Amino acid sequence: MTTASEAPSLAPRPAQRLRGKNLIAVASGKGGVGKTWFAITLSHALARAGRKVLLFDGDLGLANVDIQLGLMPKTDLGSVVAGRLTLNQATVNFPEAGFDILAGRSGSGTLANIPLSRLQMLGDDLVVLSGGYDKVVVDLGAGVEKTTRNFAQQAGTIMVVTTDEPTSLTDAYAFIKVTHMERPGSDMRIVVNMANSTREGERIYNTLLKACEGFLKISPPLAGVIRRDLKVREAIRNQTPILIRSPNSEAAADVEAIVERLLNPAR
Ligand SMILES: Nc1ncnc2c1ncn2[C@@H]1O[C@H](COP(=O)(O)OP(=O)(O)OP(=O)(O)O)[C@@H](O)[C@H]1O
Ligand SMILES: [Mg+2]
Repeated sequence: MTTASEAPSLAPRPAQRLRGKNLIAVASGKGGVGKTWFAITLSHALARAGRKVLLFDGDLGLANVDIQLGLMPKTDLGSVVAGRLTLNQATVNFPEAGFDILAGRSGSGTLANIPLSRLQMLGDDLVVLSGGYDKVVVDLGAGVEKTTRNFAQQAGTIMVVTTDEPTSLTDAYAFIKVTHMERPGSDMRIVVNMANSTREGERIYNTLLKACEGFLKISPPLAGVIRRDLKVREAIRNQTPILIRSPNSEAAADVEAIVERLLNPAR
């Protein structure tokens, strides 16, 4: 005879979230710091380095990867959330840049209010899908909302983008703190964007690093500094990837250097 305590528990076990080692989430805290542009350029540079890449638009509130690239994908996450397509079926190829894209909902709809259980399922499906790629880059929305945190928790690496603005630095710190509390040991790395110079960007990084070390006892490394460059705006306005429109620009070179270090950490 088995007693109740010996019988297998039917109570739901705490959710074991799947993790994607090759998932790179691009986050920030504050909006408008260049996450989407960086996620696109990072994906492009990884593809140019010979990797099989998927760019996933994880900004469920204001998806705009497709807009920055001037694409009108026939399939998007909206169909996935509605249960009409699988993630795999909703993925489109972007041959000019050599990587795949899973667009957010195009048009006016928002996916920001989908239930947490559906969101977690989506994240788990994304981890499964990532098995078919070398790298999956996830462009996140601003802030620390549940959608953003959900995808960040599943990423093997989180690139936290900041600029030199005090509000941006404060919000980047807030994002790092929340992520560290929820998932200690997360691989978070800092990207300083729109820096006036590489030296200036490194100084900004050190300010953020000091706060992380002082209050959180963690030392997120610098992924790299991206200089402020008019070619970025120009490329976005023309809805063309910067690595096609201005491959020799400073900002493009800075992202390629970040990819070089990401793929060859020992150098
Ligand atoms: N290195 C750079 N040099 C100059 N301008 C830049 C640079 N990076 C980004 N920008 C500018 O910042 C703007 C915002 O970029 P982007 O839309 O990628 O930011 P975001 O963080 O994704 O915003 P959101 O939080 O709204 O999603 C771009 O339109 C571009 O003009
Ligand atoms: Mg964006």
